[in-house]
Amino acid sequence: MNPYDGQVSKRYLIRTHGCQMNEHDSERIAGLFEADGMVATDSLDDADVVVLNTCCIRENADNKLYGTLGHLKSIKEARPGLEIVVGGCLAQKDRDLIQAKAGHVDVVFGTHNVHRAVELLEQSRTSGPVTEILEAAVLADDEMFPSALPARRKTGYLSWVTIQIGCDNSCAFCIVPSVRGAEISRPFGSLIDEVHALAADGVTEVTLLGQNVNSYGRDLTLKLRAEGAGEDELAIDRGSLVAGAAWAAEGQRARPLFADLLRAVGDVPGIRRIRYTSPHPKDFSGDTIAAMAETAAVCEHLHLPLQSGSDAILAAMHRGYTAERYLDKVVAARAGIADLAVTTDIIIGFPGETDVDFAATLEVAAAAEYDAAYTFIYSPRAGTEAAELTDRFVDHTVSVDRMNQLRAVVERSSHRRNQDRIGRIEEVMVEGPSKKNPDVLTGRTRQNKLCHFASPEPIRVGSYATVEVTSAGLSHLLGELVEVTHVATHRTRIPVLSS
Ligand code: 5AD
Ligand code: SF4
Repeated sequence: MNPYDGQVSKRYLIRTHGCQMNEHDSERIAGLFEADGMVATDSLDDADVVVLNTCCIRENADNKLYGTLGHLKSIKEARPGLEIVVGGCLAQKDRDLIQAKAGHVDVVFGTHNVHRAVELLEQSRTSGPVTEILEAAVLADDEMFPSALPARRKTGYLSWVTIQIGCDNSCAFCIVPSVRGAEISRPFGSLIDEVHALAADGVTEVTLLGQNVNSYGRDLTLKLRAEGAGEDELAIDRGSLVAGAAWAAEGQRARPLFADLLRAVGDVPGIRRIRYTSPHPKDFSGDTIAAMAETAAVCEHLHLPLQSGSDAILAAMHRGYTAERYLDKVVAARAGIADLAVTTDIIIGFPGETDVDFAATLEVAAAAEYDAAYTFIYSPRAGTEAAELTDRFVDHTVSVDRMNQLRAVVERSSHRRNQDRIGRIEEVMVEGPSKKNPDVLTGRTRQNKLCHFASPEPIRVGSYATVEVTSAGLSHLLGELVEVTHVATHRTRIPVLSS
């Protein structure tokens, strides 16, 4: 029932910063709001509730947030009914500070209590501004995993599926473990059930999300061992991995690995593409390579964050691998998975990075022959180990110069690898008209490359088509339609789903 019956529904606007986890959390907040009778708006002018879902991984999000809140303050002065909510990683980190600095904020919630968005808003209406930050995920399974809440997905044909929250690593530059907490894997059964439900609804591509997907299940095993499960019980009967509900009903306790998860998701009828992000090179194994190669739906794309090509810097970062080991894994992945695209994340200017260290990064980047790389200048995050190394900070102009050099190296390989695709027939999932040229359709290939193509006929978004690649740029392919191979079946208006 709509609790606003008889009234005009409240309109909400969510602004999301940061990674896919945050995007996915925003879909959940939207789903909860809509289940409560609210409706979405794109315009600040007619929003009744504004949610800022914040990120603090790299950017100096603090200044931006307080700037935005300053702007919202003047809007709220003119429209006192406007309700302002701040969630996400920066809220988790700054906690009470947000309302101390911006008293006009109605609700602050952290990364562990997205599911409380509606209740907190109601609480603020009756008792005034509220900040609720949970230290850790101490909730029932279905509340802990954003995927298990109702969702208002952005599209009806693509979906994120959270397989794990938090991170148990301690990379010296990274704030994620302190804002997202310890690693917790989502139980296998509920995960597979969610994918079945999504597929039944017309979703054909899923992206499995976690901070360190290759360690999926590790915590479940430790828990089962602590509960006294024997090794024979933990040993997995892979034949029983397919049906999630059946798995749970049979009281299955054995631990599925990430590779098993890929295979099981690949077995769900209707799922044509599986992507995942991100694996950690130290845990990326032959098992996963084999599962990727053997599961037709898993896309030929590996995003394997390098961070640095210098062994000294990798050790200082606590990454748990050397450059050589990293490259061995890239070689093994390319050998095992035909036509694999490899992308990465690299940080420039980690404290203490010398010219020699950086030269090693250039060398590894050239050797890895990336299809694309996200390059970031190191940004100190208060509370992380590296932020303490102030006497070793790298001069910003040096970092900018290094970043340009690195980009040039990556561009060489990405351009060449894109050019190599000219003349091939690629499968593209159509995402709509190109932003720059509405006469042309755009979508992604299995290698996750953007592909723009001319089509004599309109094609429904979410459909699959084969395209002949006719030319290639640094970050996209151009082509011509060969044929539509699958017409999308999802509903246009996505229902708010509860799994
Ligand atoms: N400074 C710069 N880049 C960072 N990343 C994470 N923390 C920082 C930081 N403090 C980058 C890493 C990671 C990506 C998501 O963000 O490359 O893989
Ligand atoms: Fe951060 Fe490292 Fe965990 Fe990735 S693996 S989230 S970089 S601590």
